[in-house]
Amino acid sequence: MQFSPTLWLIYLSLSSLCVTLAAQVIHKDVAIIGGGAAGVWAATLLEQMGKSFVVVEKEAHFGGHTETYTIPGTNTTLDYGVQGYSPLVNGSYDVIERFFGAYDVPISYIHRTETSGGTPRYFDFRTYQELKNFTYSTDLSKYTTQVDKYPYLNFQVQTPSPIPSDLTLSFGDFVKKYSLQSSVFDIYYQAEGLGDTLSLPAYYVLREMNAAHLLALQPSSPGLLVTTAGDNQEPYIKAQAKFGTDALVGSMVQSVHRNDSGVELTVNTPSGPLTIRTPKLLVTIPPTTSNMEPFDLDSSESNLFSKFAYSGWFVALVNITGLPVNASFQNAGTDTLYNLPQLPAVYQITTTKVSGVYLVRYGSAGYMSTDDVRADIVSSIEKIRAAVTSNAGYLAAPSILAFGNHLPYTLHVTSADLAAGFDNQLWGLQGHRSTWYSGATFTGSSSTDVWNATQAIVASMLAA
Ligand SMILES: *[C@@H]1O[C@H](CO)[C@@H](O)[C@H](O)[C@H]1NC(C)=O
Ligand SMILES: *[C@@H]1O[C@H](CO)[C@@H](O)[C@H](O)[C@H]1NC(C)=O
Ligand SMILES: *[C@@H]1O[C@H](CO)[C@@H](O)[C@H](O)[C@H]1NC(C)=O
Ligand SMILES: *[C@@H]1O[C@H](CO)[C@@H](O)[C@H](O)[C@H]1NC(C)=O
Ligand SMILES: *[C@@H]1O[C@H](CO)[C@@H](O)[C@H](O)[C@H]1NC(C)=O
Ligand SMILES: *[C@@H]1O[C@H](CO)[C@@H](O)[C@H](O)[C@H]1NC(C)=O
Ligand SMILES: *[C@@H]1O[C@H](CO)[C@@H](O)[C@H](O)[C@H]1NC(C)=O
Repeated sequence: MQFSPTLWLIYLSLSSLCVTLAAQVIHKDVAIIGGGAAGVWAATLLEQMGKSFVVVEKEAHFGGHTETYTIPGTNTTLDYGVQGYSPLVNGSYDVIERFFGAYDVPISYIHRTETSGGTPRYFDFRTYQELKNFTYSTDLSKYTTQVDKYPYLNFQVQTPSPIPSDLTLSFGDFVKKYSLQSSVFDIYYQAEGLGDTLSLPAYYVLREMNAAHLLALQPSSPGLLVTTAGDNQEPYIKAQAKFGTDALVGSMVQSVHRNDSGVELTVNTPSGPLTIRTPKLLVTIPPTTSNMEPFDLDSSESNLFSKFAYSGWFVALVNITGLPVNASFQNAGTDTLYNLPQLPAVYQITTTKVSGVYLVRYGSAGYMSTDDVRADIVSSIEKIRAAVTSNAGYLAAPSILAFGNHLPYTLHVTSADLAAGFDNQLWGLQGHRSTWYSGATFTGSSSTDVWNATQAIVASMLAA
C-alpha cells in the first residue's frame, strides 16, 4: 500500500502542528484562574507592580458576576448581574475608586432611596395569589447588634478558633434566640441568593449581610457606587483588551501539576493548548470539586472542597408586555414561616430604566439546569401576568433577552464542619503547593470586600 501524496502532506502538516502546539510554553510570575472581580483586580495590581501574569477565563468575556446587556441598535446598557458597590465597613469607597479609576470608568453614588425597580406587589409564586396589604419590618437594629459582635465577618473567611457557637447555629435558630423574627423577610431579600437561608449556618447569612452591607443602608450613607453609564462590565472589557494575549478567555484548564516549587498548567485556548509555567497560582473561581477537578488535588484539598454545597442564583432580562406600569412583583409565601418564598422559584421581577424590560432574579437551594430555570421563569411570568391582567391570552410570550447563571453561588458547609474549624482549615490552604485563593468563597461576596481582601492576598503571595 502506498500513501497518496495528499495524505502524506496532511500527515506532515499535522505532525508539525502537533510539535508546534506541544512547544507552546510560556513563563509568568503569576497565573490567575478566573476573570471576575478577584482575578481582574489581582491582575491589575500585578500589572501596576510590573509583574507578568495570565488570566484564564472559561467565558468569552471577563466580568464574573458582572453582566451588562446593550439594547440592540442603541447605546442603552442594563446591568443584570452586579448592581452596585457598597463601601468597606470603615465607610471607605477607596478600593472601588481605584478599581474603576484604573480603567478610566466614571462612577457616581446612588442613594438607597433611588434604587427602586418599581412599587412591589407580593405574590405567592406557587399559587399566584396576591398577599394584599403585606408589610414587613425594615428595622434592623436588633440584627445589627448581633452583627457588630463579629467584626471579622467583613473581610475574610477566617474566624477565631474555636468559632463562636452562635455562628454555627442554623440561621432559623439564631433568629429565635435573638428574637429577630420580624426582620427575617427583609434580611432574606437583602441577602438574596443564599438558597435555604433559614437552614444555613448563621455564619453565612451574617457574612453576606455584614456591617458593611448594613452601613450602605443607613440614610446618612452615600449608598452604593455605580458606573455613571450603567455599564458595570466596562472595566472588565477594558481590562481584557489591555491584557491582550495575557487574557486567555474562552479557555479551560486541562491539567495542572503543582508542588512547593511551582506550577505547570495546560490550558485549552481557542488557538490551541498552551503550557504555563509559574511559581505562583492564584485561584479565584469557586473551589468546588468539579471546578477543581483538573488541579491534581491532594487529600487535604479534596477533603475540604468536597464538603461544599452551594446555592443557585440566576438573573435574566426579560421583555414582557402587558404588566401594569411601574409595578414590580416579589415572591412571598402566603402560609410559610416568615412569609419566605419556597425555592426553587422567581425571587422578584423588577422594572429597569427601559420600559417593558424587567430584571428577573431566580433562586434555588442547589443545582438546577439553565433550561429548567429559563422555562420556570417564562412560565412564572405568564402566570403572574394572568393574575394581574385580563387580556393575558392575547399578549406576546415573555422573551428572555439576556440570562446569567451564577451557579455555584454561596459555597457553604454544615454547622458541624464549621464547628470543627472548617473556615480556618480552608484559609490554611493559602500558599499550599504554590497556590493561593481569593474570590467570594474566601472573602465574602461583596465586590468591595473581594477587592480589599484580594489586595492583601496578592501582597502575601508575592512576599512568599
Ligand atoms: C452610540 O455611541 C457611539 C459612540 O459615542 C456613537 O458613535 C453612536 O452614534 C451611538 N449610537 C446610537 C444608536 O446612539
Ligand atoms: C478603610 O480601610 C481600608 C482598607 O483596610 C484602608 O485602606 C483605608 O485607609 C481605610 N479608610 C478609612 C477612612 O479609615
Ligand atoms: C387592605 O387595606 C385597605 C386599606 O387599609 C383595606 O380597605 C382592605 O380591606 C385591606 N385588604 C385586606 C385583604 O386586608
Ligand atoms: C515541581 O514541579 C515542576 C513542574 O511540574 C517540576 O519540573 C519539578 O521537578 C517539581 N519539583 C519537585 C521538587 O518535585
Ligand atoms: C420587546 O418586545 C416588543 C414586542 O415584541 C418589541 O417591539 C420590542 O422591541 C422588544 N424590546 C426589546 C428591548 O427587545
Ligand atoms: C413610573 O415611574 C417613573 C419613574 O419613577 C415616573 O416618572 C412615571 O411617572 C411613573 N409612571 C406612572 C404611570 O406611575
Ligand atoms: C481590608 O482587608 C484587610 C486584609 O484582609 C483587613 O485587615 C482590613 O480590615 C480590611 N479593611 C476593611 C475596612 O474591611
